[in-house]
Amino acid sequence: MPEKRKTKTMGTSDRRSFLKKTVTVGAAGAGIALLPSSHLFAQLQSNGGTLSQGDAALLRFAAAAEILEADFWRQYNELGGIQDNEVPGGSGNPQYTQVLSNLDEDFPQYIHDNTADEITHASFLNAYLKSKGAQTVSLEKYRTLPGSKASGSSGALRLTNLMQLTVDTSWYTRYRDDNHNPDLDPNFRFPFAVPDLASGQFTAIPRTDDDLNPSDHLQAIGQTAAFHMPTIEQGGNSLYPSMAQRASSVEVLRILISIGPAETMHFQTWSDIAADVVSPPFAPLTDPTNGLTFPDLDDLEKKSVQPNRIMPQPCPFISRSLPRCSIIRPTLTDGISMNVVTFLTKMGLFIGQSKEFFAFLTDLAKDADSAQRECS
Ligand SMILES: [Fe+2]
Ligand SMILES: [Fe+2]
Repeated sequence: MPEKRKTKTMGTSDRRSFLKKTVTVGAAGAGIALLPSSHLFAQLQSNGGTLSQGDAALLRFAAAAEILEADFWRQYNELGGIQDNEVPGGSGNPQYTQVLSNLDEDFPQYIHDNTADEITHASFLNAYLKSKGAQTVSLEKYRTLPGSKASGSSGALRLTNLMQLTVDTSWYTRYRDDNHNPDLDPNFRFPFAVPDLASGQFTAIPRTDDDLNPSDHLQAIGQTAAFHMPTIEQGGNSLYPSMAQRASSVEVLRILISIGPAETMHFQTWSDIAADVVSPPFAPLTDPTNGLTFPDLDDLEKKSVQPNRIMPQPCPFISRSLPRCSIIRPTLTDGISMNVVTFLTKMGLFIGQSKEFFAFLTDLAKDADSAQRECS
């Protein structure tokens, strides 16, 4: 059996109190908060390491995003994945696991492996930061949310909330559209694949054993999960190439362009399953308890929503004067980290979290967004 992986790194500390300390250095007793020069700030932050301030900020935001991913993936794994030494916690919920397995018999294995990947992303990024003498990221003090009470859940406290999701499924049409790119057409609205998921709050896991019936309700919960998973992973799929454009060291660039495509592999796997969710025999499906409907998009016979067109359709890139290209989109770098925070917040993933949590995450995102590429 593989060894249990460590999810928490050593020596983490609270970044806000650290920042507070750094800005008051030398001003104690004078009642004046002095902002250090950016050079001194960089030295203080990286503690004599070789990471630039910007590179450390990029990796810290990535580490926070990965910790959050690992947290909700663990919730999926406890109920619908494979519980083992590699991804411990929970004991599985047979009925929920069954509806996921109906969509793809490998679903539990994919949940397990995606969860393990996120755990390693988070622990690698923190360990790398530490190895460079830079500050690491811990969100442990924000682990306050109650999770599922359904059979199979560990009952542990969580960072994220999978039970009140509002899911933006427009990535489905964004990657099937051969004429629009969000970077070139920021005002174009890509239609939702499952419009209902964007206009309410839905659970992606059974909240209690009451959610295990009726069967179409539980199937709809599983199908919500099957759309939530690629919705999250396409975010990572854009985040990493967007951040990479502001990395200064080649090694940090290498980290970002090596983790990013793993997110893409997750996205692609889940987007294939999501395509099944909007095709017969799984669609159309209406949850009898709340009316949430998964439409049959195969039936429309429209290229723009055709389920099995899961490869990224070529689209305009950089300039409309250049030939279309099959690419990840969006990848514009300005404000990407704050965009991710806003996207996840609107999704409802942080419902119940404290003001301090949002302040901390916003602080990390803004620092990452102000990173500048420092080499030519
Ligand atoms: Fe990840
Ligand atoms: Fe991921």
